[in-house]
Amino acid sequence: MSTSPIRHFVDLENENTEDLKDILKTAHTIKAARKTKRKTDILQDKVIALVFDKPSTRTRVSFDVGVRELGGEPLMLTGAEMQLGRGESIPDTARVLSRFVDGIMIRMLDHEAVAELAKYADVPVINGLTYYSHPCQIMADIMTYEEHRGSLQGKTVTWVGDYNNVLVSWLHAAKHFDFTMRIGVPDELLTDYTVINRLKDAGAKIEVCDTAEAAADQSDLIIADTWVSMGDEGAEHLHNLLKPYQVNTRLMEHAKEDALFMHCLPAHRGEEVTDEVIDGPQSVVFDEAENRLHAQKGIMAWCFHKSNADTK
Ligand code: CP
Ligand code: NVA
Repeated sequence: MSTSPIRHFVDLENENTEDLKDILKTAHTIKAARKTKRKTDILQDKVIALVFDKPSTRTRVSFDVGVRELGGEPLMLTGAEMQLGRGESIPDTARVLSRFVDGIMIRMLDHEAVAELAKYADVPVINGLTYYSHPCQIMADIMTYEEHRGSLQGKTVTWVGDYNNVLVSWLHAAKHFDFTMRIGVPDELLTDYTVINRLKDAGAKIEVCDTAEAAADQSDLIIADTWVSMGDEGAEHLHNLLKPYQVNTRLMEHAKEDALFMHCLPAHRGEEVTDEVIDGPQSVVFDEAENRLHAQKGIMAWCFHKSNADTK
């Protein structure tokens, strides 16, 4: 049995900055190498459970394909089919899964449950989205920015819309990657500054703006997401609050001329973003989607103590 510490990937906030940079390096290397050879042996003889308690297209497919291409075997499970759905405890689920599989990727809304799973599992646990955060997505987003524009260091990244899981992981990233995170979120949706204040105390540059236009001003990257996240279904008031935060051509004009547009997808065209922007020349949303595959391979390699050199 390995004596190395178990490497979970639950939140960017408490990861080591150098580790995150190494993961991105590995992701870029793996993506480049995939052009000539898809299969590697980084996860040889390893079974990775992919647990979905909520719907997914990108996370599900990218992890399934990613595990296979790394030479491992994915085991797809849904919360409802598991005893978890009938009340089996998280610690017991963690202990049992650890006897069968070598790693666990999980999507469930309850963030504390995912943290508890990591606490009790003897194998790496990867957060595939909770109501609180979505760290894999932001690794793919940073990789995408680097491909198109180079390092994020010194850049301004703008989020407009709801205060949600994707934004929280971007705020976490601001602690590590030395960019300014500007957010345009309606006051009604940003009532708790605990995370923002904690990250600012840790050195993150975060600016809260009064309007979407102020947040977008001379920015290098504009990011939107759905107005109604999983778990918020039926919260129709969000639509009225967020209408002034739509990313359209007029808002993009406030950003730098070479600013990029990102959206983790799925998009609600005509709501948080117009067709013109998401299909326009500044949009990199499908590169972001593709990079989920490469970034998550980098994350999985790191979880299993493989470095960039092992991927060559
Ligand atoms: N962006 C993202 O996580 O997409 P899915 O919900 O389709 O996995
Ligand atoms: N904020 C969105 C992201 C979906 C990938 C949600 O949680 O539904």
